[in-house]
Amino acid sequence: MAQLKEEKDLTSFDPEWYMQELVLSDEAANNMKGDVEVFHKFFTDHNLSGKRLLDVGTGPTIHTLITACNHVDEIYLSDFLPQNLQYLEKWRKGEKRQSEQLIDHVMDLEGRQMTAGQRESDLKSKVKGMLPIDVTLSKPLGDASSYSQFDIVVSSYCIETAVFTVDGYAKCVENVSSLLKKDGFLILCACLNGNSYQIGDYKYKAVSITKEGIQSALRQAGLVVIATEELAETDYDAKYLSFDSYLYILARK
Ligand SMILES: C[S@@+](CC[C@H](N)C(=O)[O-])C[C@H]1O[C@@H](n2cnc3c(N)ncnc32)[C@H](O)[C@@H]1O
Repeated sequence: MAQLKEEKDLTSFDPEWYMQELVLSDEAANNMKGDVEVFHKFFTDHNLSGKRLLDVGTGPTIHTLITACNHVDEIYLSDFLPQNLQYLEKWRKGEKRQSEQLIDHVMDLEGRQMTAGQRESDLKSKVKGMLPIDVTLSKPLGDASSYSQFDIVVSSYCIETAVFTVDGYAKCVENVSSLLKKDGFLILCACLNGNSYQIGDYKYKAVSITKEGIQSALRQAGLVVIATEELAETDYDAKYLSFDSYLYILARK
């Protein structure tokens, strides 16, 4: 990593940089194909479906929901940072873009039953809320009880950016799990064995956690692991991130 300002607090998180460098550019989208392939695999191999899905710590990107859109009726996006929720709201209004390359890749995986444009507009119409959230709280969505329980919760690379200890990670998993209905599914994506990542001019701190640490956190939260996938770090990831691999877990409450 270049000489960067070290930071723990995410206030300066820049959604534009995040999208350009980590999602939208051809190189970035190509690098992320493995992520959307895992979501496709989890939803199709395990026949996942439900009425309401919550994405926890969505950031500015909806790549976690391209497949999910076909399997649920309502989608709720959420994030801790107002600038990420604003980016998502602008996307919904057509003022910001998501990765057409990644949506197109999922359409290929599904056998091209619709165009990328159709999927994106289906997704926009299924998004029923963009909610402030804090995974460090025992009630991450606050007291808004109408949003309290979901059939499926997805959280991608969020918790490791919110806390800096393994115990803190486990507490957040428990908090996020409280948002799931009994028998509901959690898809958790995590960066393993690293403690920092670059966004713009900043090097942010992350918790260094192992696969075993995450599995133990899930067990403590009363979740049963159903499937796992692991992707190794690519050269592109290594430009900006300090992790050695990426873990995807499907678990049931
Ligand atoms: C590395 S980004 C991941 C964004 C996206 N989910 C993805 O997979 O690319 C981490 C996200 O977690 C969010 N986040 C950080 N702390 C949080 C907290 N305490 N509660 C909820 N979200 C948080 C950040 O605002 C950011 O959008």
